[in-house]
Amino acid sequence: MTEKVVLAYSGGLDTSVAIRWLQEKYNLKVITLTVDIGNVPDLEAIRQKALKIGAIKAIVVDAKETFVKSFVFPALQADAVYEGQYPLATALGRPLIAQLLVQAARKERAGLVAHGCTGKGNDQVRIDVGVGALAPDLKVIAPAREWRMSREQTIEYARAHNIPVPVTKASPYSIDENLWGRSIECGVLEDTWNEPPEDAFLWTKSAEKAPAKPAYLEIGFEKGIPVSLNGRRLQPVVLIQKIHSLAGKHGIGRIDHVENRLVGIKSREVYEAPAATVLLRAHQALEDLVLTKDQLRFKAIVAAEYAELIYNGLWFSSMRRDLAAYVESTQKYVTGTIRVKLFKGNCQIVGRRSPYSLYDYSLATYDKGDAFDQTASPGFIHIWGLPVRTQARVQPEQGK
Ligand code: ARG
Repeated sequence: MTEKVVLAYSGGLDTSVAIRWLQEKYNLKVITLTVDIGNVPDLEAIRQKALKIGAIKAIVVDAKETFVKSFVFPALQADAVYEGQYPLATALGRPLIAQLLVQAARKERAGLVAHGCTGKGNDQVRIDVGVGALAPDLKVIAPAREWRMSREQTIEYARAHNIPVPVTKASPYSIDENLWGRSIECGVLEDTWNEPPEDAFLWTKSAEKAPAKPAYLEIGFEKGIPVSLNGRRLQPVVLIQKIHSLAGKHGIGRIDHVENRLVGIKSREVYEAPAATVLLRAHQALEDLVLTKDQLRFKAIVAAEYAELIYNGLWFSSMRRDLAAYVESTQKYVTGTIRVKLFKGNCQIVGRRSPYSLYDYSLATYDKGDAFDQTASPGFIHIWGLPVRTQARVQPEQGK
């Protein structure tokens, strides 16, 4: 009896070829799974295409809300940004795809899953490790890692097997996109000296072409989760989409990063992440107001670790869950409103308020109403500086 495989299917050339290749090479019955985590143009057309090519069943899942609630928002609460630059859009999408592949395989009684990742990137690691964490008994096949076909050969294979080849000129870039961001690689970007050309960008205007007048936006948070825009409560997906278009219009969220891949390669990656850029900045600004100095200092260390885990494909791991528990606990009072100004590529925090703000005007002010007891400072400084003065007396050279 032929076995079944569930293939993560985007509708693109590689995964379309993979349907036939899995049938021919491994004699498998192919079930496709198309996951919408933002910006999938036409799910039904993709479903029909899979069936036409020869899939025995084509499943489509709208996972936008799950993606935002279970992956994007925890990462936002953690302030997870890889190497200080990349908001991890692609990296957050992969564990969800792994999870949905496993669920589909169980439901369809398939012993294998497959995906279209190549052997050079991080994405293969994220899906393989994710599937392994959730269902160690399932076998994973990555056709594009095995078949050793160039792009031309893949197109030839498609033509020979009556698989529709996109008629439009193929994009010179390799693109992955979801609600949290758009990843752009390959082509002229592979030369680190080249400025990313305008055609690499789809979601963001250049600063030059952005409106001459700024836009202001008030983002409301509850326990570290964005819940409203300009006073209106919005569903998570809608909230992200609204910030996405407004920030994109103002040229916010272009990122140009020479990044360290898990597989050891340095690679030049360009991103568009308008909503992520605004929300991460606003969330951090609110934390500045409501968390203590020690919480902020330690949370930054956790943020960097958390980002490493996400990037390195360890979403489903005890370490990530442990860090998530810490992050969750820090978000108890991260409630309030942040006002941002969007202007010519800049996202500036211009206002913040919270019922839990630790900012105390009477302590901070230099005007009248000052409640800070300046007479207490000399005693504090006397003890704070005690070890320094002691050392200066005994070891005069050490303190200088
Ligand atoms: N470098 C990014 C990451 O590892 C983006 C990968 C984008 N994938 C793609 N197929 N273009 O998360």
